This record gives sequence, structure tokens and C-alpha cells, in this order.
Amino acid sequence: MADITYNAASKCWILQLEGSTYCIGLSEDASSLQHIYWGPRIASAVASEMVHSSASLMGPFESPTGISREEYAPWGEMRFGEPGLKVEYADGTRAIEWVFDEHGFERSGASQTLWLRFRDQAYPLLVTLYYRIYDDHDVIERWVQLENTGGNGPVTIEQALSADWRPPRRERYRLTYLHGRWGKEMQVAEVMLGPGKIILESRRGMTSHQFNPWVALDPEANATEESGEVWSAALAWSGSWKIVVETTPRGEVHCIGGLNDFDFRYHLAEGEQLDLPAFVGLYSSKGFGGISRGWHAYEREHILPETPDAVRPVLYNSWEATTFAVNEQNQLELAEKAAKLGVEVFVVDDGWFGARDNDHAGLGDWTVNREKFPRGLNPLIAQVNALGMRFGLWVEPEMVNPNSDLYRTHPDWVYHFRQRTRSEGRNQLVLNLARDDVREWMFVTLNALLSEHNIEFIKWDLNRSFSEPGWPDEVERNPQRVWLDHVRNLYWVIDELRRHHPHVAFESCAGGGGRVDLGILPRVEQVWPSDNTDALDRLRIQEGFSYAYAPRVMMCWVTDCPNFVTKRTVPLSYRFHVAMAGSLGIGGDLSQWTPQEQEEAGGFIAMYKRCLLYTSDAADDLTR
Ligand code: GLA
Repeated sequence: MADITYNAASKCWILQLEGSTYCIGLSEDASSLQHIYWGPRIASAVASEMVHSSASLMGPFESPTGISREEYAPWGEMRFGEPGLKVEYADGTRAIEWVFDEHGFERSGASQTLWLRFRDQAYPLLVTLYYRIYDDHDVIERWVQLENTGGNGPVTIEQALSADWRPPRRERYRLTYLHGRWGKEMQVAEVMLGPGKIILESRRGMTSHQFNPWVALDPEANATEESGEVWSAALAWSGSWKIVVETTPRGEVHCIGGLNDFDFRYHLAEGEQLDLPAFVGLYSSKGFGGISRGWHAYEREHILPETPDAVRPVLYNSWEATTFAVNEQNQLELAEKAAKLGVEVFVVDDGWFGARDNDHAGLGDWTVNREKFPRGLNPLIAQVNALGMRFGLWVEPEMVNPNSDLYRTHPDWVYHFRQRTRSEGRNQLVLNLARDDVREWMFVTLNALLSEHNIEFIKWDLNRSFSEPGWPDEVERNPQRVWLDHVRNLYWVIDELRRHHPHVAFESCAGGGGRVDLGILPRVEQVWPSDNTDALDRLRIQEGFSYAYAPRVMMCWVTDCPNFVTKRTVPLSYRFHVAMAGSLGIGGDLSQWTPQEQEEAGGFIAMYKRCLLYTSDAADDLTR
């Protein structure tokens, strides 16, 4: 059982987890928090007797605090490593000197939360460090709350990371991480660490295909799939982020992460509180298999939305079959075929709205295209339901084509700088969701769509990185908060939609796997890992994915050959076997499938349902 205790004699807090122990303690003068222990489970009495980091001075160029193993370092005094927090006060002071204030811990259901509050000795800033642990898990959720208690103007936040993780001192660590690009997400990379910093980040406003905010560290590259110690961390944030893995001059490794400070400023107003996203840590002595099983179990039990579906329903998506040329007739024909195979959710992808005949127009105009659906969507939905399937729809709410009624009406609703290009990606611009009016419009529009139709599944897409992140009307105030506020408002809109329409399941897609992270997962039942559905390439993508994320959320479609991305042809049975390692979907053009192929597919879908329902608890571990 998760258990947090405070040892007053040694001024340290001990977190006992399922198979691990974590310990932190105050420095003598209470002006810094020291990391003491993170590793296999040890008795609390042993942990509390461990000495605080006893840093020896290294000449006049360092300070004892600066080279100590600080749990979370504010920038100020003689600190030269990557700090957690850097602010500027209204009088121009740009350094924090804090002291411990108070602490508390409480249990709520299966979790226990510890908080430790520090206050600046001269300015009105409170910094509260949070730790949450769960019964039967080895994850530690860490985040930070900042509060401007007022009396001295705004506090400008320049860098605000969420947690700093410190694996024990060892000779040399290997860093394992996930990188990629469109069509090739979640590739596993590894590097032996030497002196210096490795920075993994996104400056794109979204989580990104380039790096996923997840890392693992193992000493001497000793860990295997089955054995060895691994320390891992994952960030719960869907916007620009950064994780810095730094090896100090003393050879110690720490891993600090959170919001990306690049181009970021946030004016914390008097009386305002700001909660930073969680950066979650996990220890396992059972190798990479232990780490991934730990992440999966945590996601299933504490992160993903509760769902009545023991197994994700088998889904059909018509994108690869009909692209933008959707209409009531061709969707119904596909739906009839899909139902015969045993499909449970039928999804109409792009092309159903506005003047959306290709990717040059229509984004932003979320009304049904009456040329394609003269009777609206409801007759098709009724027929899909009559076939025994739920109906799902694709949207891309954060984007707008310049060729759209929305943009013609509100050209100022996109991120832009005066006198600068509005760079288009896939002929589209990014809506400034940091604006309250855009947030309101987005909720009202999607709420109406869900209220007027029996839609039970939404695929929420995002098909470009952010650029020119300007907000001219806000220039006198705080335009650089868009990096934070876009994501906060995105979460708000999805949360509100879920509250109003609890029967609707969501899928996170960003041109494939560009938005997969612990921040979006509490809001979606599943994610789309890649637009590349080539079964051979998918093996690598799905393997990388499963290091960090539960296979249950990983949607995998069986599509046509030659594959539209790679032009490769592999047998239908191979495509099914690979797709069945996650949650199964079909994305091929069923109107072209031969009777034999349809029969084979029906057999696989039946087998998939039988096996997964039988072993639904074990389903998430099938790939590892
Ligand atoms: C993105 C998605 C695809 C599809 C298209 C539609 O590329 O990843 O699955 O929805 O958009 O335009």
C-alpha cells in the first residue's frame, strides 16, 4: 500500500510504493530540498538515516547548494545546472531565494498526495511541490503549483519545469527515448550519456512526432527486456515541452522536464495560481518489460477515462477508401460491408463538412456539406445504428483553411504576427485557441454537432505544427502565454464536451501520432499512432509505442495493399496479426475486397473479439 511518512528528526519524507522507495529531505537551514533516495524498496528507517547530499566545495566557482542533489532547484544564488524555476519580479529582480514553509499529506481513495510549500524570502511567490503515489503502483506523479500572493505586481515566469528526477549515482547511464517524424513515429533510440546535456523537446505547440515526452535511464546499459534497473519518466502535456537530461561535472545524471521555456513568458497576476503539468516517474527492477507494464497498468487504472467497453470496439474508418469524396451512398455501402465483418463503430473521416472537397478549403466550417449529404448526417447515422454499429465522425477543430467562411469572418482568430507571413501547412492555419472567444466558439460548435446527431465517437485531429505564434491584440499584455493557454483551453473544450456528452468516445490524432502523451490520455479512449499503416513499419512503431503507452489505446487499422505510404504488399493475415496487437480497426476500401478477403477478415475479427474478451485484463500486455 502506498504510504507517505515524515521523519521530524531527520526532516525527511519517505514515500513507500509497491516495490520502490523515494526519499527527500530538507537542508539544515531549510533553504533547499535534497534528493536522498529513489530505488528498490527499503525500510523507512533506513531511508531516513541516509545522509543528505554532502557536497564538497570545488573551489570558488561552485557553491555547496549549486552542486548538491537538489530535488527541484529555483534559479538564483550560485546555481549553474538546468533549473526548475526562473522568474522575474516586478522590480527587475531575477533570482529566487526561498525557504521551506509547510507541508501536508493526505489519502484519497487509492492515492496519497504529499505537498511541500516554499516561499520566497522577500517576494510574494509561493511554490508548492506535489507528489502523488498510488496503491499497487511504482509511479510518482510530480507537479508544481505557483502562486503570486500579491502586493508586488505580477511575477513573470520565464521557465517553469514540473519535476527533476535523479536516478542514483552510477558510473554511466544509457538514455532510451522515442523519436520520429510523420509516418515513422515512436522509433526507439538510445545513447550512452557523457558530460553535457541532451535536450528532447517540441517547439511546435503540440506534442510532436519528432520526440515523444518519455524517457528511460538504465545504468551501464545493463537492463534487458526482463531484468535490470530502469528509471523512467513521462510528461503529461500536449503542447511545447522539454526534457533535459544533464550529466553534471560531478558525473551525476538528472532529468528535468515540463513546459518548454522557448519563446515562453507568463505573467502570474497578483492572487493567481498556476498548476504546472505533471512529470511522472517510474522505477522498475524488472527491465524494460517491467517499466512498460508499470506504465500500462498506471494508464489503465488511473489515467484513461472510465469506459463501459472492456475492449475497444472494432472500428471502421473510411478515410483510405473514399478520402474527401464521402457521400451518404458510398458511406452506407461501406457501412453495410463493415457490419457484416463484425465492425462495431463506423467512422466518417474528413470531407463531410463545409466546402471540403480537398485539403484546400472548408476547415473551420463545421456544418454538414449538403451536396454530399442532402438529407444531413442523421439518415446515415440511423442506418449505421440499424446495422448495429455506433457512428463516429472526424473533426480538426484547432485549424482553419484561409478558404473558409470562418477565416473570412475572423481573419484575426489565427496565430500571426503583423507584417509577417502566415505560413500554411497543408493549406491551413492554426486558430488562436488561447483566445476566450475562439474557445467559446469551439465548444458551442462542437456541442451543437454532438447535440444534433447521435455521434458516439470523435476523432480529434491536428494536421500541422504551430508557426508565427503571435497575438497582436495582446501585445501590450502577455502574448507569449499562448503556448500554455492553447493547451489549457484545448483540455477545457474536450473536458466540457465529455461532461455534456458522456457516451462519446474520443480518439487523439495529429497527422498520426503527433499528440500521444499522458496529458491527452485522460481525455481520450484511444489514439492514432501513425498514418503509416504498413504492417511491417507498424511493428517498429507499435513496439516503441508500447514502451510507454498501453496497447489498448493504440488503434491499428488493417488497410489495403500496396500500402499508400510505402507501396509495400504483405498478406492480409499478416496485416491482421500486426493490427491485433493493439485495438483493431479496418481502414481498407471494403468495396474492393473479394468475397474470400471479406470472409478471412470476418474470421479474424471474430477471433480477435473472442481472444480479447476472454483475456481482457491481459489484453494490454499482448505486445510485450
Ligand atoms: C490526418 C489523419 C488521417 C486522416 C486525414 C484526413 O492525416 O492522420 O488519419 O484523418 O488527416 O484529412
